[in-house]
Amino acid sequence: MQPSLEFIESTARSAGVLLREGFGKEHQVNFKHAKDLVTEMDKNAEDLILGEIRSKFPDHSILSEESGSLDGQTEKMWVVDPLDGTINYAHGLPIFCVSIAYREKGFLQLAAIYDPMQDEMFSAEKGQGAFLNGNPMKVTGVREMHLALLGTSFPAANSVMLARNSIIFLHMSGQAQTLRRMGSAALDLAYVAAGRLDGYWQLENHPWDFAAGALLIMEAGGVVTDLDSNPDFFHPPYSLICANETLAEMMAAEIRSAG
Ligand code: IPD
Ligand code: CA
Ligand code: CA
Repeated sequence: MQPSLEFIESTARSAGVLLREGFGKEHQVNFKHAKDLVTEMDKNAEDLILGEIRSKFPDHSILSEESGSLDGQTEKMWVVDPLDGTINYAHGLPIFCVSIAYREKGFLQLAAIYDPMQDEMFSAEKGQGAFLNGNPMKVTGVREMHLALLGTSFPAANSVMLARNSIIFLHMSGQAQTLRRMGSAALDLAYVAAGRLDGYWQLENHPWDFAAGALLIMEAGGVVTDLDSNPDFFHPPYSLICANETLAEMMAAEIRSAG
């Protein structure tokens, strides 16, 4: 059986409903690093998602934030972030989502990002377009930096990158109309696909943060590249830029010039 958009959407929605039910309650917080935390709800949502995938596709491999890499056919791989925006969630800030992608033979095929607080389902299937609650999405046509509303995220627990990120952030805030740093990389990417943000960049990400969002953006007419404007972005250190093609090139040039 081939995975379907219906399956990935319903799995993301079920995990999102679980997160919404737990939102605002007291959580068990554990620290992976001093500034990288995980709650029992990350794990509960992950258990639900992995249970669904394994029951339907027992021979597929899974890469999921809290469980790491789980064996299976590597040509058929699920990339899962059960709760993107854990720090927001743990603080009662309602900006977070569930992100699930399916990749086959190195190509992203299906994506679902679900924001349970807004009841917004961002989804895409390769070659079929990208949708927000069933309505087509399109990236914006903004082609001037000073008109662009850009998002970014800083990697958790990476103090080495903090200085470089801060220099780039300062430079980009001088170039763009303004910047947003909302604390959920996957939701930022979904917002680029939906035309709410004109572009997004991030240095040193994880595949589960961007796999689903990248397909949404490409299916919404945008591009996703590495910092050298190379469309083959799915490689370490997983730094990426996304927007419409012209703006993405301008952003890449600005980021390179900033350092
Ligand atoms: C984090 C968020 C954040 C980004 C970090 C991610 P998590 O994911 O997406 O916006 O800056 O790089 O690790 O830990 O909340 O799933
Ligand atoms: Ca994440
Ligand atoms: Ca997460």
